[in-house]
Amino acid sequence: MNIVIVGTQWGDEGKGKLIDIFSEKVDCIVRYQGGSNAGHTVVVDDKEYIFHLIPSGILHKGKVCYIGNGVVVDPAVLIEEIEGLARAGISIGGRLKISSLAHVIMPYHKILDKLREIKMTHRIGTTGRGIGPCYADKINRCGIRIIDLLNPRVFREKLKDNLKEKNEIFRKVYNHSGYSFENTYRQYLAYGKRLSKYICNTTSCLNRAIADKKDILFEGAQGTFLDIDFGTYPFVTSSSTISGGACIGSGISPIKINKVIGVAKAYATRVGEGPFPTEFKDGFQEFIRNKGREFGATTGRPRRCGWLDAVMVKEAIILSGVSELAIMKLDVLDGLEAIRVCTAYKYKGKILREFPYDLEVLKNVTPVYKQMPGWTGSVTGVRKFSDLPVNAKKYLLWLQHILKAQVKVVSVGSSREETIFI
Ligand code: IMP
Repeated sequence: MNIVIVGTQWGDEGKGKLIDIFSEKVDCIVRYQGGSNAGHTVVVDDKEYIFHLIPSGILHKGKVCYIGNGVVVDPAVLIEEIEGLARAGISIGGRLKISSLAHVIMPYHKILDKLREIKMTHRIGTTGRGIGPCYADKINRCGIRIIDLLNPRVFREKLKDNLKEKNEIFRKVYNHSGYSFENTYRQYLAYGKRLSKYICNTTSCLNRAIADKKDILFEGAQGTFLDIDFGTYPFVTSSSTISGGACIGSGISPIKINKVIGVAKAYATRVGEGPFPTEFKDGFQEFIRNKGREFGATTGRPRRCGWLDAVMVKEAIILSGVSELAIMKLDVLDGLEAIRVCTAYKYKGKILREFPYDLEVLKNVTPVYKQMPGWTGSVTGVRKFSDLPVNAKKYLLWLQHILKAQVKVVSVGSSREETIFI
C-alpha cells in the first residue's frame, strides 16, 4: 500500500506526528517537495525531535528514508541533521537515500530570499531558507543539482555561470558584495563528498521497492494553501504541496498511489503573510497560540491562529483526492464554551460555498460559522472514540459529515500514545 499524507490547511497541521505513526507500518518513507522551510516535530519518550529534511521515519529501525528529486536540499542543514541523529545514538546506516536530481540550496539563494523580502512592497513572510530562489533557478534551468557536487568540473562551470549573473544582481540591485567563487566552490564540494554515500537514483530504488511489494509513505510538507498553484498565491511556498506533488517529486506513477490521507488541525494556523478569513481577534489568538504551542518549528515565529475553515479543507480534499482524515490537536479545544467552524463565506451580499481563488475576494470575505457547544475536562487521556465527551464526538461526526471524508485518526496530545484510531 502506497500512501500520501498531505496537509489540508497552511501547514503545521501536525503531519509530523501522523507520519511518525504511519512510518511504523511501511517499509520506505519519502520526502517529495519543499526543503528546510519545513519542520516536523516528533515526540518520542518525552524527547522532542525536529526534522527539516530527513523523513522522521528515520527514528524507526529498519525503515529506508528518501529525499526525492522534488526536494531542495540545503547540504549544511542535512549534514547537521545526520550528525544530530548520530549524537542521539540513532544509526542511519544505509537507510538514508538522497536523489541525485534534487536541487541544492546555495548561499546566494538564502541571501536573495531575505533581500527580496526587504525590497518587496508586499512581503510574503518566507522562512528565509532560500526556497523560492532555489526553485526559481530550477525552473530557469540554471540550478545546481546534488549530482553536480560530485563532479568538480561540472560544478565549477555551473557555479561560475551562476555567480557571474548573481553577483551582478547582488551589487547592482541589492548593494551587496556578492559571493567569492573559491570559498563557495570548496565548501560545496566538501558537502558533496560528505553526502556522497547517500546519493543515488532514488526513483529507480523506489520503483524497485514498489515492484517488490514494499509499502511506501509519501510525507507531504507544508499544506494545500501554500501550494504554488492552488494556494493563496503569492503568499505560498514554491512547490506542489498537494498529493500530485508526490509523483513529480519522486518519479512514481500516479497509478501506484493507493490512498491519500488529509491532515487538519481542529482549528487553523498560518505563518507568514496572506489572507486568513477565520483568524482570531486579540486575546483569544494569544490564548490558543499558547495552549497549542503554536510557534514555528523552523523559525520560532508565532503562528496566526483561527477557527477551522471547512470551505478550505473541503477544497483540499478535492485537490488531493483525500479519502481519510486525521484531526489533530483536538485537546487544544478542551474547556471552550463554544467551538466554531466556517462553513461558507459572505461576499458582497452573496454566500460562497466554494473556495474563491481570487485573492481580492478571499481577502474581503466574512466567514459564516456553525457554532457548537464545547466540552469540559480534558480529552488527552482518551484512547477510544466512544470515551470522548458527547460534544467532542458530535463535533467530529459533524465534521466528517460536512467534509465528506472519514475521520480515521484523532490526536489528543503530542505523544504517539495520545491518539485515537477510529
Ligand atoms: P518559503 O517556503 O520559505 O518560501 O515561505 C513561503 C510561505 O510559506 C511563508 O508564508 C512561510 O511562512 C510558509 N511556510 C513555508 N514552510 C512552512 C511550513 O513548514 N509550515 C508553515 N508555513 C510554512
